[in-house]
Amino acid sequence: MKPMPNLIPRFNLDYTFKDFCYGVKSAFASGEFDLSPLKSIFGEKTFLFTSYGRNSLYVILKALNLPKGSKVGVPLYSCTVVFDAIVKAGHIPCFVEIDDNYTVDPHDLKEKIEDLEVVVVIHTFGRPTDMDKIKKIAGDKPVIEDCAHSLLSEYKGMKTGTLGDASFFSLAKYISVGGGGMVIVNNDGLADRLQKEMDYLKKPSVLNNIKHSFIVYMRSLFYHRPWFGLFALPIGLSIEDKVDLMTKRSFEVASINKNDLSLMLKKIVVFKRKVEIQRKNSFFLINELKDTSLRLPYESKDTYCNYYLFPIRFDSMEERDSVSDYLRNRGVDTSKLYSGTPLKSEQHYGYKRDCPNTENIADTILVVPNHYTLGEREIVKIAEHVKGVVK
Ligand SMILES: Cc1ncc(COP(=O)(O)O)c(C=O)c1O
Repeated sequence: MKPMPNLIPRFNLDYTFKDFCYGVKSAFASGEFDLSPLKSIFGEKTFLFTSYGRNSLYVILKALNLPKGSKVGVPLYSCTVVFDAIVKAGHIPCFVEIDDNYTVDPHDLKEKIEDLEVVVVIHTFGRPTDMDKIKKIAGDKPVIEDCAHSLLSEYKGMKTGTLGDASFFSLAKYISVGGGGMVIVNNDGLADRLQKEMDYLKKPSVLNNIKHSFIVYMRSLFYHRPWFGLFALPIGLSIEDKVDLMTKRSFEVASINKNDLSLMLKKIVVFKRKVEIQRKNSFFLINELKDTSLRLPYESKDTYCNYYLFPIRFDSMEERDSVSDYLRNRGVDTSKLYSGTPLKSEQHYGYKRDCPNTENIADTILVVPNHYTLGEREIVKIAEHVKGVVK
């Protein structure tokens, strides 16, 4: 790949020098954190924190006290670290289809539910799962919401994360606080057991906190222009084929870094404004692309989508791949998100090829930048280039 200093990155890692300084200062903070910003958004809930979203899922599964080897229903269309967390908790991921909303397909879940002990739903791209249908099918079985993508999305007027027995968020993603996972507990019976699981977690030292902030700041710097297109992506692409970054990752289950938690509590107060900008960008793209053959995201009735990511879908993998190359050559980086998951899951997580719709989606989807940090000229450029190449 030729160096491209103006390349628009596929994801938005918005961790500024100010965030870094705030993080370093917070590493020395003592005493309890004031969780009132969270309570004013999610209500009076139990909030617990780990170092990653995957750790949060792990502790929730442990707290459920299921027999070892229980089957955990989970959408195949996901990051494989979700499956790693299930395996690490001593259980077996059992894969469920997604529908055209990119969330759990209720029909497929209905056919598989008898074998499952618990269901994990994922509000993928920020698009809320139809929770009423899923909870009805699950009956007495616990439902866990994976809200890694869905911070501030709503279903029937309620925030995602407040709808299942417990939920978890990945704070490294949309809100860009560096790292961290947040658990919200909605089932009172589970709160004490989860608190006990939290007591086992290792607490990061002040030095680790500072090191962490520095690494995140460097990563963020390289995720911005000009460094993204000059170094980060070319290097990333050159090692992609040599290093398997997707399979069976082991991870240490630790408590959240203080700097991530305090930055999240600061950023979340004004985060809705950023979500609104990202929604505006997304509606602009939808309007500009509505006359093409692309399948575009839409907002389902009774939902508020945070538009964390903007997926477009093609009729074939060949078309998707050629558009992705075309866009990159014109300064727009994109992501074929989770396209490798079906194969990796077959090789390493026991997937039995029973989710054909998911496999098709993984082969034909492309995530296009819609970040709240993009200027008007950039979002117009993205729309123009996509319109210029698709029918
Ligand atoms: C849908 C989904 N859930 C959970 C996670 C795990 O989040 P974390 O990286 O914070 O462990 C990811 C991460 O990529 C994800 O994409």
